[in-house]
Amino acid sequence: MRSKSILQILKILDSSHKRDGNDSKRPLPEFCIYLKPYAFDLTPDLTLVTYNLPLITYIMFSFTKENLQRIEAEKKKYPTVESAVMPVLWIAQEQNGNWLSEAAIKATADVLDLSPAHVIGVASFYTMYNKQPVGKYHLQVCSNISCSLLGAKKLIHHLENKLAITHGETTQDGLYTFSEVECLGSCGTAPAMQINDDYHENLTIEKMDELLKGLEK
Ligand code: FES
Repeated sequence: MRSKSILQILKILDSSHKRDGNDSKRPLPEFCIYLKPYAFDLTPDLTLVTYNLPLITYIMFSFTKENLQRIEAEKKKYPTVESAVMPVLWIAQEQNGNWLSEAAIKATADVLDLSPAHVIGVASFYTMYNKQPVGKYHLQVCSNISCSLLGAKKLIHHLENKLAITHGETTQDGLYTFSEVECLGSCGTAPAMQINDDYHENLTIEKMDELLKGLEK
């Protein structure tokens, strides 16, 4: 039902878009987020509707019943709701296809009864929260002191050349996003890279190539 009503809204948007002949100047409603088609990942948890505006997908977010229960459990672990922001943002990111849209941040703020500004402040500080859609594989290479001393910069250049992307970019096919990040907490086994939730340590260029080859399968 909800998808149907979104579709109706999008039809209205589209008809006025056609009248104007220029969608780029149109302010979008608060719940609408621009996404390139390659960037989204349909999951049953998302209410996601695509419509025929080029390169635009509209997305809404509300926590699933199961995640609301998880959130209640997280809240009980802390003396104040402010302390629960990080785990709840993590749940929101998981549900939202590995990134935090404005709608997901707003839902996080609402469920914790905090201001969106407070939640954005936390989300923007940590690289573990993706503020933009990421590819199927998010490659996060640490360039902090231990990793740099042990060749992280060479690894990064190799990765950038191989995938033809740089920090924060996603490959055209939507498979890989590369991010250069601060310490991953794996300094004793540097240089380190995180691919989605998995750590890969003591990296060399050869190991990195092997890993990427494994992801292609
Ligand atoms: S410096 Fe790279 S993991 Fe700590």
